[in-house]
Amino acid sequence: MDTTRATGDITRLLRPDLLAMEGYEPIEPIDVLAEALGIPPERVVKLDGNENPYGPSPKALAALADARSYHIYPDPLQRKVRRALAAYVGAEEDLIVAGAGSDELIDLVLRATLSPGDGVVNCVPTFGMYSFSTSVCGGRVFDVPRREDFTLDLPGIEEAVGQGAKVIFIASPNNPTGNAVSLREVEALLELGLLVVVDEAYVEFGGESLVSRVPERERLAVLRTFSKWAGLAGLRAGYGVFPPALASLLLRIKSPYNLNVAAQVAVLASLEDLGVLRERIACLVAERERLFEGLGRIPFLRPYPSQGNFLLCRVEDLEARWVRDRLAERGIFVRYFDTPLLRGHLRISVGLPEHTDALLRALNDLIATDSHR
Ligand SMILES: Cc1ncc(COP(=O)(O)O)c(C=O)c1O
Repeated sequence: MDTTRATGDITRLLRPDLLAMEGYEPIEPIDVLAEALGIPPERVVKLDGNENPYGPSPKALAALADARSYHIYPDPLQRKVRRALAAYVGAEEDLIVAGAGSDELIDLVLRATLSPGDGVVNCVPTFGMYSFSTSVCGGRVFDVPRREDFTLDLPGIEEAVGQGAKVIFIASPNNPTGNAVSLREVEALLELGLLVVVDEAYVEFGGESLVSRVPERERLAVLRTFSKWAGLAGLRAGYGVFPPALASLLLRIKSPYNLNVAAQVAVLASLEDLGVLRERIACLVAERERLFEGLGRIPFLRPYPSQGNFLLCRVEDLEARWVRDRLAERGIFVRYFDTPLLRGHLRISVGLPEHTDALLRALNDLIATDSHR
């Protein structure tokens, strides 16, 4: 007898650990934010997703308009893209695998490594997808809080390894704290026998890449993305440089057409438009410093230095969530994380100069109003 039909209860067929899990809290797109506020999308100042306000490069936009192969499945082995990426990062193409954003590669690495119950070290506060994907893959998350200056707690990590953790993700520069990991720290992690995945989503804005170290180390992998520096977040294009055995396993277990035609076209064209993209990176880095100074002059904000395209700010005397809500009412969106370590903070992405001006104006207006809570 078909017992499912008999009871009609689908939940007993679903994984109990996933049913109990909280979902990832994603950010909303501009049109949804604009509609909720009843303002035109052009008036939204979106500083909550670490996206690139300049958008795709001119060559990427032209190539997307000209491409004629959207009705054909993309190359499952991503040959042209991996060859171009190999030249861009200076690594062998056999070590490179691309995916639908680095998000997909985080998930794939975990699928490739975790058996049920295996552990992953999560150096909080950090990017939420590491713990999210670990849980989805049936792994255990070992949260090891960073030290007060946001550097890694190496003894704490070693303890987690003793309890069964086999993979660690280190974002460098780290989202949301903005600091980069040192080569010395990575060497110390490699000594522990873990697979060390350094996530360089923001490395084009600061910090040093470890890609050149991957071939020398057996257990080091580096993730990169086109979402931030190249303005392709909506197309979902990321890649990683992996030890050979892991790269070939990832190519075998990924879904065959994971990097879609539009993403492949845009990646290739972006790599031919590096001059423009690098100028934009320089503008964003300069704007980051102007934003840092401006936020530092707001009495209730303490920004931390950052090597990414965002700034984490401690909020003093006011509730961070309240500040987020008041800014949102004015069409300015910044990120608030409702987690114990980040509750008193806001993360603000670097936008265009006029976005900085609008944000600072709104924050100064908050000081002028007396209804502070
Ligand atoms: C540290 C870090 N890694 C990866 C990602 C995801 O990048 P992608 O858009 O390539 O999936 C983000 C996005 O915010 C991030 O902050």
